[in-house]
Amino acid sequence: MTKTVLITGASSGFGRATAIELDSAGYQLVLLARRKDKLAELADSLNAKPHIIQADITERETLTTALQNLPGSFKHIDVLINNAGLALGVEPTQNSRWEDWQTMISTNCAGLASMTHLLVPQMIERNRGQIINVGSTAGLHAYKGGNVYGASKAFVDHFSMSLRADLLGTKVRVTNLIPGLVEGTEFSQVRYHGDEQSASQIYDHCKPLQPDDIARSIRWVIEQPEHMNVNRLEVMPTCQASAGLAVHKDTA
Ligand SMILES: NC(=O)c1ccc[n+]([C@@H]2O[C@H](COP(=O)([O-])OP(=O)(O)OC[C@H]3O[C@@H](n4cnc5c(N)ncnc54)[C@H](OP(=O)(O)O)[C@@H]3O)[C@@H](O)[C@H]2O)c1
Repeated sequence: MTKTVLITGASSGFGRATAIELDSAGYQLVLLARRKDKLAELADSLNAKPHIIQADITERETLTTALQNLPGSFKHIDVLINNAGLALGVEPTQNSRWEDWQTMISTNCAGLASMTHLLVPQMIERNRGQIINVGSTAGLHAYKGGNVYGASKAFVDHFSMSLRADLLGTKVRVTNLIPGLVEGTEFSQVRYHGDEQSASQIYDHCKPLQPDDIARSIRWVIEQPEHMNVNRLEVMPTCQASAGLAVHKDTA
């Protein structure tokens, strides 16, 4: 039976690459993001026609209406990929912008929770389904300037494991997919507020992961047998590792 997969943040980066990967494997897709032109462009390039939802995941009413009005053949979502998210800023707490913090919390935490809250009941009712949350290594390994972004991804990790506890006894599976450094997306442009030079420097002199690597990982998680739940899947490029603890020496 063809599975229907809803991907949030499908207009760019991991979401877009995952749509292309899953379309080529014969999955039926529902693509969600705020930029409709990008979604339409992607839809035109796919083999099967997806259903498109232009929505902001922080707007609960818009999401509710869009999900209630899914067309007949797209009605039952088998896999929810909670991928939409962002980092804003790299400054330490004392220099960061409150609006950036609010946007990260409302998107990465509340938006992701909202999508899950809306779709879990129909998965339980059909005793079938899977939720793949896109976390980040920033949620496991603290670094300077990671503050609320890292904390929002720690939320994703704990929420994923709590969902597992709630869903025990059902056939609904939950995964936190945890990528490290990946280039080829809009992530750093967004994080650096459009400062292209700072954004591109992040990827200099190393070989980061690519969106396709994440798309293949997501497909792998989906295609494991029903009795197997991948709790966490942490993927980093070989050029990246956890860098240890910092110690400040007061030598003055
Ligand atoms: N790239 C990395 O190194 C990296 C590493 C670890 C984790 N991640 C995580 O991976 C996910 C995807 O990131 P990416 O690298 O693919 O970045 P990206 O290219 O910037 O893609 C982000 C996607 O999220 C969507 N989005 C953002 N806010 C939204 C909102 N309020 N409502 C609906 N859609 C929204 C964007 O679409 P619209 O702008 O069209 O709405 C876009 O499609 C994020 O959760 C990010 O935190 C990225």
